[in-house]
Amino acid sequence: MCGIFGIVTKETQNLGPILIGAGERLSYRGYDTVGAATLPQEGKIDLRKDAGKVQQVAEKYNFKEMSGDRAILQLRWATFGAPSQINSQPHLDSDGDLVGAHNGNVVNNLELMAEFKAEGMVVRSENDGESCVHAVERYYDQGHDMVEAIRMATKDLEGDYSFVIGKVGDDRLYAIKKGSGLVAGVTEDMVCIGSDLPSILPITRRILRLYDGEIITFWAGGYEITSVEDGSTIERLPEISEETMEIAQKGGYPHFMLKEIHEQSHVAGELLHLLDNSPDVDPFIEKLKNARDIYVIACGTSYHAGLLGSVYFNKFTGRAAIPVLAPQFAAQYGNSVGAEDVGIFISQSGETKDVLNAIEIARERGMGVLGLVNVVGSTLMLVSDVHLPLVCGFEISVPATKTYLNQVLALLYVALRWGEHDTKALNKIPELIDLVIEKSEEQMAPVVEKVKDWDDLYSLGYGLTYPVALEGALKFKEITYAHCEGILSTEFKHGPLSAVYEGYPVIFTAGPDDIPLIVSGINEVSCRGGHVIAIGLEDSRLEGNASQTLVIPNLDLPENLQAAALALLSAIPLQLLSYHCSLAKGFDPDFPRNLSKTLTVD
Ligand code: G6P
Repeated sequence: MCGIFGIVTKETQNLGPILIGAGERLSYRGYDTVGAATLPQEGKIDLRKDAGKVQQVAEKYNFKEMSGDRAILQLRWATFGAPSQINSQPHLDSDGDLVGAHNGNVVNNLELMAEFKAEGMVVRSENDGESCVHAVERYYDQGHDMVEAIRMATKDLEGDYSFVIGKVGDDRLYAIKKGSGLVAGVTEDMVCIGSDLPSILPITRRILRLYDGEIITFWAGGYEITSVEDGSTIERLPEISEETMEIAQKGGYPHFMLKEIHEQSHVAGELLHLLDNSPDVDPFIEKLKNARDIYVIACGTSYHAGLLGSVYFNKFTGRAAIPVLAPQFAAQYGNSVGAEDVGIFISQSGETKDVLNAIEIARERGMGVLGLVNVVGSTLMLVSDVHLPLVCGFEISVPATKTYLNQVLALLYVALRWGEHDTKALNKIPELIDLVIEKSEEQMAPVVEKVKDWDDLYSLGYGLTYPVALEGALKFKEITYAHCEGILSTEFKHGPLSAVYEGYPVIFTAGPDDIPLIVSGINEVSCRGGHVIAIGLEDSRLEGNASQTLVIPNLDLPENLQAAALALLSAIPLQLLSYHCSLAKGFDPDFPRNLSKTLTVD
């Protein structure tokens, strides 16, 4: 996720403060690199950019003094290309009279870069934002006008993105929305675009909504929207936005956690695009195939994703992967691993000290280091032999949701591809995520009512759903402050069953292949007065035996993927249950007491 902003004003003026303000409001979307450009009628584009946060770069390059009547700004969350000055956006075209910046992922970036070079264009960076500029250059130089050139460029640019572009000697800017956020603000003297509403709201409340497949051409006081599909003009008037800045920053949701839960379908789609086209997936799998032993090493939520990944590996590749909590790696395997072994290190932040300590040991022993990481440019990414990015954008809420889901999806994808199973069916996952969110919300209120006042409960799963139960318990602990223990369902009778008395809540997450076993577990609890909540596909055996159910809608997926996908999706009702119980207790789920998003201490 990155942030873009573009503005056209009636008079030439000092645009620096407006750019810095928009940059600060977009800073949550990317803080690896920052850049701004003003476009003159004649002469050179004033382009200032570098790695760093908005305040640092703006100060170093004196954004404050930038003036003109057209400007573009970009903040980058690095995906393609390291966070360096050359990979910073905006980017110029070959002869420096077009400038543009994007947000999103152009998944065929590598092929496009090779084509542009072969066509004699000047390619300066590895960043996919530059591909957007050259793709427009390609058609503009053939004599097409800017809108037509952008329409044609979209045929070349695969992936989800939005970008803004302009040229010297023009009085307009152009922006396109294709899968990533883009809104416009319109006054009599100015039109601007931004990746989200908060970047624009302090400038104007006259907001113009844009939809996927639309190009906006904008100039001081006016705009035109063009359909990418057929080139027709779309009529739309601006509306007055009533949203407050706080609500707008949360995309209209009351909390970042809920916003991030709802973003899961989008980021899952982006991840699948990326993995289908990434040159790193095969080397990643090759290292795993050639390894003597494979370890999956992480902490917290990322460990639960890794645990589920190891079940996927066993199921789809017939190879074992040993899951281990990062701080335990030294004691348990430190003296046994060697150069023939490989570790998959999983971390949202890429900076968790416990994980970095384990990497140090792995490195000392000559082990291969594979990374699964959200924050590109993080230490984990830099020290990995091969890494796969999670492309979730910035996760603000302390309880991890979308990064967990994409970790699981990435591991499932790798397992399927390694085992030579079809990965195409995974393209259904994004829409299933939305369906599960919707269905879970419909069923949630009575379950929350039964659970919210308990400060002690269990979350159980078996096989593929065992890691899900652990993750559900962790979410519950993090944001409701209750003690919720996650264990293997079959272990419950070996001790914890003694905790059960009238009304005591026990959550069972049931995989479709394990219903009879789960039903016996349910009955052991319910015959002692416990209150059982069952999560699983619609099944009369679950409904007939549990006190309440959170039903996952039927999965329109091939047989061999059903149980694996159910495990991935069943985290969603658990995320929502924790979220609603946290609210019912009057807590702030985004910032739970005592916890930190990134733990850079031992
Ligand atoms: C902290 C966070 C957890 C997270 C864990 C690992 O404890 O509060 O949400 O799962 O660190 O973080 P990582 O960035 O390595 O995934």
